[in-house]
Parts: sequence; C-alpha cells; structure tokens
Amino acid sequence: MKKLFICGLIYVMNHSSLLAQQAYIPDFSTLALDGKKIFQENCVQCHGETALGTDLGPPLLHPFYRPGHHNDAALRRAIKKGVMPHHWAFGPMPAIETVKDEEIPKLVLFIRELQRANGIK
Ligand code: HEC
Repeated sequence: MKKLFICGLIYVMNHSSLLAQQAYIPDFSTLALDGKKIFQENCVQCHGETALGTDLGPPLLHPFYRPGHHNDAALRRAIKKGVMPHHWAFGPMPAIETVKDEEIPKLVLFIRELQRANGIK
C-alpha cells in the first residue's frame, strides 16, 4: 500500500514537472522564422506553441525526434503523408495538406533550431 502511494506521488511529481516545463526560444534564422509562422498556422493545435505537446499530440522537443532517430526526411514525410501512431497513444497524425511543398523545409528548420536550443541534437 505504502509502495503504491509512493508510486502515485512520483507519477504526480513527474507529470506536474512536465506541465511546468518551458522551452527555451532561440534567435531563429530568417528561414526558421518563416517556419515558425507556418507551424503556428498548422501544427500548434496538436504539438503546442513551443512544440512541447498538447492533449492531441506529442512534444517534438523530445529525444525520439532528434535528427539521429527521425531525420529530416522523416519529418518531411510526416507532414506530407501523416503518421501512424507508433510512439504514443494520441492516435494518428493526419497528412497536413494545408502546408505547401515549398514550406516544408522552413518548418523542418524551425523544428531543428528549436530542438537544438533545447538540447535535442
Ligand atoms: C491533429 C493533430 C496533429 C497535427 C495538426 C499535427 N500533428 Fe504531428 N503528430 C501528431 C501525432 C498524434 C503524432 C504522433 C504519432 C505517434 O508516433 O504516435 C505526431 C507526430 C509528428 C512527428 C513525428 C513523426 C514520426 O515519424 O514519428 C512530427 C515530425 C510531426 N508530428 C510534425 C508535425 C508538423 C510539422 C505539423 C504541422 C505541419 C504537425 N505535426 C501537425 C498529431 C498532429
């Protein structure tokens, strides 16, 4: 019983520290600033203003999404074709058809610059 209580307490502590987490916002390059705008228009409802996630989608500032694990091609594919759920329990990500092909590299750059500034490299 005591063990269960402690586990619960640790869960609550971890969870609240996640909620309190804040992203460090770097000085973005000009192209990444364009990407930020596109992200705000198409991605924040699920991934959050600073890519820390919401009830609908995971944080992209997460070691899963470091370049060595999900490279730029994987990011581009996710935007263009959507993603079957494989890391989380949010369900699938739909293809984001409102993003034009020429906007995708700017989005990827924005995500990478934000990740690098937050130690995801
Ligand atoms: C309707 C909600 C939703 C929207 C809008 C959305 N995503 Fe996602 N995204 C998800 C979910 C859910 C996952 C996690 C799927 C899993 O692995 O379980 C995900 C995963 C990802 C991944 C990881 C891909 C992989 O291969 O695992 C990237 C990168 C990503 N999203 C980028 C974006 C970008 C950029 C946009 C805006 C253009 C966007 N998402 C818009 C819900 C969304």
